[in-house]
Amino acid sequence: MSATLIPATLIPGDGIGPEITAATIAVLDALGAPFQWETHVAGLAGVTAFGDPLPQATLDSIERTRLALKGPLETPSGGGYRSSNVRLREQFQLYANLRPAKSLVPGGRFENIDLILCRENIEGLYMGYEHYIPIDGDPHAVGMSTGINTRQGCRNILKFAFEYAINKGRKKVTVVHKANIMKALTGIFLETAQEMHEAHYKGKIEFEQVIIDACAMKLVMNPWQFDVLVTTNLFGDILSDEIAGLVGGLGMAPGANIGADAAIFEAVHGSAPDIAGKGIANPTALLMAAAMMLDHVGRTELGDRLRQAIDDVLNKDNIRTGDLGGKASTDQYAKALVARIKG
Ligand code: NAI
Repeated sequence: MSATLIPATLIPGDGIGPEITAATIAVLDALGAPFQWETHVAGLAGVTAFGDPLPQATLDSIERTRLALKGPLETPSGGGYRSSNVRLREQFQLYANLRPAKSLVPGGRFENIDLILCRENIEGLYMGYEHYIPIDGDPHAVGMSTGINTRQGCRNILKFAFEYAINKGRKKVTVVHKANIMKALTGIFLETAQEMHEAHYKGKIEFEQVIIDACAMKLVMNPWQFDVLVTTNLFGDILSDEIAGLVGGLGMAPGANIGADAAIFEAVHGSAPDIAGKGIANPTALLMAAAMMLDHVGRTELGDRLRQAIDDVLNKDNIRTGDLGGKASTDQYAKALVARIKG
């Protein structure tokens, strides 16, 4: 195997970010992962160090490496700075957000879940075209938002979803929309999906469409009826937390933000300020994101070894963090993974 290292940007993040990142790097080192890390800050740590939630040095590093592993970044609700996560996705045109949800620990509310969600990541209602209209002295009398979905943006994420599904041997792609009400904004997404399936993917993969509200209900009633889901930005954000809930919560859910020439891998969960600094956070989501990063650079064998080690530690060694009903600290869990990898 070539010893060439792949430059990659590492953003430890805020809250539990540094703790779960340290655990992840320890496990990746044990695995011999081929990354040469450039460590940079963003989010609250960026504001504290440089007065900027997305410092130029961090952007320059990702500009060079086109590859990053990122801990959660704090974003104030309402006022304050705009989400660094959203800005990173826009800056590097990371149009596809890939979020797998797979049962890792048996005995949860649902068994044997294996779902893939492909979320459009840079358009829709997340473009930030928002403003207030002041009336009669109330500066926030009216709140307005404009969503934008383009034909090309729909094509990009739909092509990603169809080809991902076919390449991974999946059975079905479900397009999720609200074209009955938002006829233009999400109608264009459904229409493009139907056209692309007819033109390029018919006979290669099963295809269906479902309205977002029905989809949310069906996921809770019978999640096994779905396989690969593809949807617009806001619906994808909500559904990805829902499918994370089906497999034991946010501590287990990884995500990848992928564009034509850059990719950022992260945990789906946030900075968990309520448990930050206590050494009890579950690093599995970031570890699973690192496994996706290994797949992305063509080192699937290392990604598979990492996933196997996680499975062994959770289910054979029964070493789990508190969110999964266990007693292990972040550090004890990471050490058990290193032992499995080295053993
Ligand atoms: P959160 O995901 O940080 O926490 C929700 C609940 O899940 C908390 O009780 C937390 O302790 C628990 N939790 C989350 N991750 C965990 C883990 N790895 N192990 C054990 N327990 C875990 O969501 P919240 O509290 O709404 O957001 C906190 C901050 O994170 C906000 O500033 C938000 O903007 C930011 N955020 C950042 C994201 C990112 O960088 N991708 C994604 C979501 C939120």
